[in-house]
Amino acid sequence: MSPSGTVRAEPDRITSDLAALAGVTEDAAPGWTRRLFSEPYRSARPQVRSIMAAAGLETHIDPAGNVIGRLPGRDPSLAPLMTGSHTDTVYGGGKFDGLVGVLGGVEVARLLTENGIRLQRDLLVVDFLGEEANPFGVSCLGSRAISGKLTAEQLDRTDGTGGERLGEAMASFGVDPASALDCAWAPGSVHAYVELHVEQGPLLERSGNRIGVVTAIAGIERLLARFAGRSDHAGTMPMNDRRDALVAASEAVLTIEREGCGAPIHGVSTTGRIESSPGAFNLVPDQATIWAEVRSIDERWLSGSRRRIADRIAEQAQARGVQTALEWLNDQPPVRTTPDVQDVISSSARDLGYSWEAVPSGAGHDAAHMVHLGPMGMIFIPSAGGRSHVPEEFTSESDIAAGVEVLAQSLISLDRSA
Ligand code: GLV
Ligand code: MN
Ligand code: MN
Repeated sequence: MSPSGTVRAEPDRITSDLAALAGVTEDAAPGWTRRLFSEPYRSARPQVRSIMAAAGLETHIDPAGNVIGRLPGRDPSLAPLMTGSHTDTVYGGGKFDGLVGVLGGVEVARLLTENGIRLQRDLLVVDFLGEEANPFGVSCLGSRAISGKLTAEQLDRTDGTGGERLGEAMASFGVDPASALDCAWAPGSVHAYVELHVEQGPLLERSGNRIGVVTAIAGIERLLARFAGRSDHAGTMPMNDRRDALVAASEAVLTIEREGCGAPIHGVSTTGRIESSPGAFNLVPDQATIWAEVRSIDERWLSGSRRRIADRIAEQAQARGVQTALEWLNDQPPVRTTPDVQDVISSSARDLGYSWEAVPSGAGHDAAHMVHLGPMGMIFIPSAGGRSHVPEEFTSESDIAAGVEVLAQSLISLDRSA
């Protein structure tokens, strides 16, 4: 412990845990790839449990498939403190997204024990199941389940290509979907949840501040749009007589992009995938599908953009004689972090001598679901070049250490708060 009573992190330990876990990856994929239900994701989980156990945490896997480590407090009857994040990644992802929050939480447990600090409350460090968006369009499976927001309709979704359902995929992974639907914790059962995460954007690097105190987490609306036209000979059918589904889908991609470009405040829109068939040089495509999303911390803009995008896509496709079927898959509404927790995080950063600023999160997080169980806050640390969800994602060891220290200090303060 430092003379001022604050704990100081051991960056080497976090770096070696990070390297060990990040190394569990799909060999054939670029970067670091541990997608939900994949073999590397399955085999990383016992490793997370061993890292937790070696740090003195009692571990178990809950009915939602979350890996939970518990550092017992002095009074187990009190509502616990929680921290955590996720260890799944996007395809070709980075080494820091999610891992920093899980391993940072484990490091906090180690630091508390080594510094002889026994909290009065239990501290739960969680590796939440499946945080990243999956092909079923349902992110944050584990935190959604314990916060009571996982639904039977979501478990019934297919991946848009008519394959297996989310519930079936979960069952094959060893998580019983019925138990996941029925494992919600009571609202108010968590004293406070604080998540450490890399920013994944450029704000902190640009300002030079070490710590971001998150004010809000963006809401996400996902769109699965199907286009049905008519297939014809690509050499003989005159341009004006075509009903080209892929061209209608392409117009939709531009419509979606324009919506984000016109957003008044932090608002973004992306088409991440497009597919068409039959898929040959010499055939006009009769089918196309796009997978897109719109994000903002402003609920009103988000619902307006949904309406504008839907109207414009239908109008443009109709002009081409192409039929549309639009399915909106609400992922999560925008969420504000708890002001009292923001204050605790900013005071902790200040006491430790780290410059901080208030920042919104454009990325989704388990924290957005944990807010249903109690006060919630998030700590961001800088991402080099603002890059994330790519192999180049990078956060320095000293920034991770700073984030861990702010997390430890915040949890210590919250343990004492009423
Ligand atoms: C998760 O990282 C997301 O924001 O999609
Ligand atoms: Mn993440
Ligand atoms: Mn991510």
